Amino acid sequence: MNIALIGYGKMGHMIEEIALQRGHTVVLKINIDNTEDFTQENMAAADVAIEFTAPDSAYQNVMRCFQFGVPVVSGSTGWNQQLSEAKEHCLQNGGAFLHASNFSIGVNIFFQVNKLLAKLMASQPEYEVQLKEVHHTQKKDAPSGTAVTLAEQVLEYIDRKKAWVSGPAQQPEDLPIISERIDPAPGTHYVKYTSPIDDIEIIHTAHNRKGFALGAVLAAEFIAGKKGVFSMDDVLKF
Ligand SMILES: NC(=O)c1ccc[n+]([C@@H]2O[C@H](COP(=O)([O-])OP(=O)(O)OC[C@H]3O[C@@H](n4cnc5c(N)ncnc54)[C@H](O)[C@@H]3O)[C@@H](O)[C@H]2O)c1
Repeated sequence: MNIALIGYGKMGHMIEEIALQRGHTVVLKINIDNTEDFTQENMAAADVAIEFTAPDSAYQNVMRCFQFGVPVVSGSTGWNQQLSEAKEHCLQNGGAFLHASNFSIGVNIFFQVNKLLAKLMASQPEYEVQLKEVHHTQKKDAPSGTAVTLAEQVLEYIDRKKAWVSGPAQQPEDLPIISERIDPAPGTHYVKYTSPIDDIEIIHTAHNRKGFALGAVLAAEFIAGKKGVFSMDDVLKF
């Protein structure tokens, strides 16, 4: 498979390493310094694009991949506001798109555990719930995209919480997400339920970025040649 890498930073480099190990070819690498090379002509050789850039560039990059008719896997976080617009555009124009706030297989299993726990806690109002995420200091968005996904899953089941908030809860219906920035943490997420009697906590700790990169390459292998909007649940057959 021929891959175009849109964003060649920490994740782009790791994705290249894994893609080459899995027998793929990287035909284009776009960074902030060579955006003029992100053209229809250069993209023609790509079966799929993998986009890991930044919150303010992800939407434009994904839309350009649609314009060039190249299926796109995006891992950029912090652009949730425009994500549904991108998905809608993809469906209306016959493109292929897969976005995940976290590509690691472990985190996607953690998402399933989180949903199950929230479902069980829905009828246990004595438990308070709180999320925490710890990442490296270069991370641009807070809370992390993964923490937002975890929070949305909790809100889906627990009616006593109405919306997530960044920082401590201001009112009982708030679901707090506490963000800490400590180097060199690649990412730890906590979901904790506390009652006067006991606590239940689930934790996922990434040891490095390899899991995100492998998941992104698996997603690229899955989406190549398809049309539609997909998620990691489709890739992992959950
Ligand atoms: N979904 C996941 O599993 C996952 C995992 C890790 C990181 N991320 C997210 O992926 C993104 C990238 O993370 P990173 O650690 O590689 O960051 P990074 O800062 O190391 O790399 C980002 C790269 O994007 C390039 N870039 C910026 N603007 C661009 C533009 N307009 N066009 C083309 N390239 C551009 C920069 O030159 C840089 O090399 C972040 O949003 C991060 O939160 C997602």
